Amino acid sequence: MEQTKVVLADHEIPRQWYNIQADLPKPMSPPLHPGTGKPVGPGDLAPVFPMNLIEQEVSQERWIDIPGEVLEKYLIWRPSPLCRARNFEKLLDAPVKIYYKNEGLSPAGSHKPNTAIAQAYYNKVFGIKRLSTETGAGQWGSALAMACRMFGLECRVFMVRVSYEQKPYRRIMMNIWGAECIPSPSDRTEAGRQVLAAHPDSPGSLGIAISEAVEDAVSRENSRYSLGSVLNHVLLHQTIIGLEAQKQFEKIGVYPDVVIGCAGGGSNFAGTALPFVRDKIHGKQVRVVGAEPASCPTMTRGPFAYDFGDLAMKTPLLPMYTLGHDFVPAPIHAGGLRYHGMAPIVSHLVREGLVEAKAYDQIETFEAGVKWARTEGSIPAPETNHAIAAVVAEARRAKEEGKERTILFNWSGHGLVDLAAYDAYLTGKLIPYQLPDEEIQRALKAIEGFPKP
Ligand SMILES: Cc1ncc(COP(=O)(O)O)c(C=O)c1O
Repeated sequence: MEQTKVVLADHEIPRQWYNIQADLPKPMSPPLHPGTGKPVGPGDLAPVFPMNLIEQEVSQERWIDIPGEVLEKYLIWRPSPLCRARNFEKLLDAPVKIYYKNEGLSPAGSHKPNTAIAQAYYNKVFGIKRLSTETGAGQWGSALAMACRMFGLECRVFMVRVSYEQKPYRRIMMNIWGAECIPSPSDRTEAGRQVLAAHPDSPGSLGIAISEAVEDAVSRENSRYSLGSVLNHVLLHQTIIGLEAQKQFEKIGVYPDVVIGCAGGGSNFAGTALPFVRDKIHGKQVRVVGAEPASCPTMTRGPFAYDFGDLAMKTPLLPMYTLGHDFVPAPIHAGGLRYHGMAPIVSHLVREGLVEAKAYDQIETFEAGVKWARTEGSIPAPETNHAIAAVVAEARRAKEEGKERTILFNWSGHGLVDLAAYDAYLTGKLIPYQLPDEEIQRALKAIEGFPKP
């Protein structure tokens, strides 16, 4: 019988994360201080993050040890299985083998705990008592709420208002784990009050929620900010996914031709792909594809530029593909993919031609997600559906070209708390949405005059 699940025993879990900065053929442009235009130093970030995470953010070491207390928590659900989607393959009727890492098995239901647990741990050992964060779909907020509870930290989450209203169950999960969840924009911060004064009905955006969470963290003692994607240390923690996948493939003597992930801020995609990009840098033939929404087409239609990570311009200037920091995306259902920028590491790899980007309309992604649910059974998160749409597109291409292909993708989370989105799709209420060019041109005015990477 051919194997459908490849599992690792607890003792086979990787003991180190992988830092791609050590292998980049060309170094990345540094983040800049907006006031001086000079690269930011660790001291500039100290009010926002604990120094042990800042060290990881700037580290050039190839391998970074995973602390024992983090491994202990990972073992609650990791190593996650590498599964073969045979039923979905049959439906697609194309010459493809489809493997996926099931990150939906974590207690919070997505890949997000891989970094939430690490970040809560490093803050705790640095002496921090309380974390603030933002969340889009609620996946990140619930993961950090759980991680904070595990390490005895208080947690406050600013949740993008449109998702807060569409997804009450994520808020309840955060409350179960003991965190406070506030719809953003809110009247709790100066940044939130300014947005509400100008747009009382603002649906919110990740950029606004980040501004609120950073302000909330830096204005209190023993409090820090935590980000669920984009930054180097977050992508680093997620490499556990790709490292496990490599060990699992080795066990069955397979190597993928294509590696796919959906990309919001870039963390699950990078976490899955970076160990394979390392192989690619060293000569291996492998394609690496990031799938984003057509309504928030950061990598496929935005410029590579220096921009702020948030609306209130409180972060350093990051070198990334961006739609402009004041971009407010349409309220599509993949809340976790509605970020105006893309992780600097992923952006750098796209620019260097090591990673490809593709955009999918939300209708196409739900179509793919429902096909998946009707064959493999599990119901994917709306974000994950973008990766599945990319798998469908790869399978179609393989069929047209008559070429066999082995695909790996990251099943980044389950959609059991996103059923309203499926209901909207099944009852014909979802509409296709392509971002108009004028909207991109308008948003890009916000970064005119910034330094160029
Ligand atoms: C299930 C799931 N997949 C993907 C994403 C996108 O985030 P990232 O690009 O950082 O992996 C999110 C974000 O909330 C998510 O919840």
